[in-house]
Order: sequence, then C-alpha cells, then structure tokens
Amino acid sequence: MRHIQSVAEMKAACREITRGGKLLGFVPTMGALHEGHASLVRTSKTKCGLTAVSIFVNPLQFGPAEDLDKYPRALVRDSQLLEQLGADVLFAPTAAEMYPTGATTFVEVGELSDRLDGLSRPGHFRGVATVVAKLFEIVRPDFAFFGQKDAAQVAVLRRMVRDLNMDVEVVVCPIIREPDGLAMSSRNAYLNPDERKQALVLHRALMAVQEAVGSGEQDAGKLIEVGASAIAGEPAAQLDYFAIVDPDSLEPVSDISGGALVAVAAYVGATRLIDNILLLPR
Ligand code: PAJ
Repeated sequence: MRHIQSVAEMKAACREITRGGKLLGFVPTMGALHEGHASLVRTSKTKCGLTAVSIFVNPLQFGPAEDLDKYPRALVRDSQLLEQLGADVLFAPTAAEMYPTGATTFVEVGELSDRLDGLSRPGHFRGVATVVAKLFEIVRPDFAFFGQKDAAQVAVLRRMVRDLNMDVEVVVCPIIREPDGLAMSSRNAYLNPDERKQALVLHRALMAVQEAVGSGEQDAGKLIEVGASAIAGEPAAQLDYFAIVDPDSLEPVSDISGGALVAVAAYVGATRLIDNILLLPR
C-alpha cells in the first residue's frame, strides 16, 4: 500500500491509476478504523480494481465545543489494518495540507444541512461537504463508499454530487454492528463499561419502533413516541433527536407507508451517538 501525505502526490497517483484504465474506489474516513470502515474497503475492492482510503480528522466539521482534540487517532494501527484489507493507497494529509492559509471556499448544501445532525451541530455538514468535495477533486474516484450509519451525511453528500454534477457514484453500505447491536463507531472508544451497556438503548429504541411497525403502526408521531420513550427508559441517556424522515430530503414524514428513515441521536455521558434504520415502503 502506498502511503501519501501531499495533495499533489495523491492527485498524481490517482490520475495514473485512472489513466491506466482501472476503476478507482474511494473510502473517506477520519481513522480509528473499525469493522464498519473495513466493510467499506471490502465493498470497494469487490467493485473496483484499486481502492484508495483517506484518513483525515477534518477540523472543519467539528464545532468549537466538540471533540476534535480528543478524537481517537491511530494511524499506525489503521495503516496495518488497511494493508491487511488490501487497500492500495492511503491518503493521510495534515490539516495545513488540506486547508492552506487563506482557504475561504466552502460547500453549502442548503437546507438539508440544517436537519437532523445538522440542527444539533451547526456548520457540521458544511465541513463534511467541503472536505468531501475537496477529496473527490483530489482523488476523482469512479465510486465512493459511505456508511448508512451516517444517514444524514449520505443525504447531504448525494445532494452535493447531484447539484454539482460530480462525476462519482456514491455507494451506501449497511451499518455494521457489535454482536449486541451497538452500531460500530470510532466514538464508542469514549464509553466506559457502564456507558457501553447504556449505549445499547439506541438500538433497543430502533428495534421497538421496528416491532411497532411490524404490528401495523404506520403513524410517524406514534412511532416517534415509542422510540423516544424507549430512550427515556435509560436515565443515563439524553435524547438529542428521534426523527422519522424521508431519507433523501430528511423532511419529517407523517406516516411510514412510503418508506422512511428512523434516526436517533443521544448522549450517553458526554458521548454523542447516532443510529438509524431504514423502513421499506409497505
Ligand atoms: P468516519 O466517521 O470515520 O466514517 C467514515 C465512513 O465510515 C463513513 O461513510 C461512515 O458512515 C462509515 N461508517 C462508520 N461507522 C460505520 C458502521 N458502523 N457501519 C458502516 N459504516 C460505517 O464519516 C466520516 O468519517 C467523515 O464525516 C468523512 C465522510 C470522512 C468526512 O470527513
């Protein structure tokens, strides 16, 4: 695996790959890799001749009171894992390389960016869209792989690609979970043993909604009550949002008959966790 830090070198390496006629798959990450990330790399390898992965803890997508400084960084372990997975190129630039002094151009995806996580994390999706647009321009991949775990991020990035006519196909991969149901996340490392147990309430709440849907409930308001009260049953968890929305527009739906995204965000101790399920049209 080639390990690249400079934008110029990464561009040259990626152009060489695509000029050689191979399909280039790209998996953007912030590192501290787990099986969720690994699943994206494996999927890329099934579809593409070569796979590039980026590891960049993007300062632009963290709010001033958020966890940028303590975000887990594990470049040596990550690069060993990527080597084992058979990734071809690892791009791990510094913040100064990605945002040289004087950079003042940002990508704003409009109202979508102010829904779900965007509402509780102002500026977050502007940071995500800006860095992903830059990475897409550096790598110019044929396919880019993202996890359903970050459902609002998927909606924002799909819209960006469509609105800016970007020449990349976004592929969304299923959520990888721990055996007990907790969605894998780099932030799970923040949880102490008690919080790790309490964190299961997110998955439990989604399963309660799934079960209510299975028993015939279609009213989004009632289903939100089911989910929110499941979260309330765990005193250590603080609900941020429990929402049932259209997966593309992220706008609330009133009933789930046409399919819907059921998304939850909650704090367990100081750690903000998210999870979701997709309901298919009935
Ligand atoms: P990060 O949180 O490192 O996630 C990188 C990719 O892995 C995202 O597409 C995310 O949805 C996916 N992922 C994380 N946990 C997953 C899980 N349990 N199952 C499946 N996929 C999972 O998301 C980001 O980084 C950043 O916002 C980024 C897109 C890299 C821009 O900075």
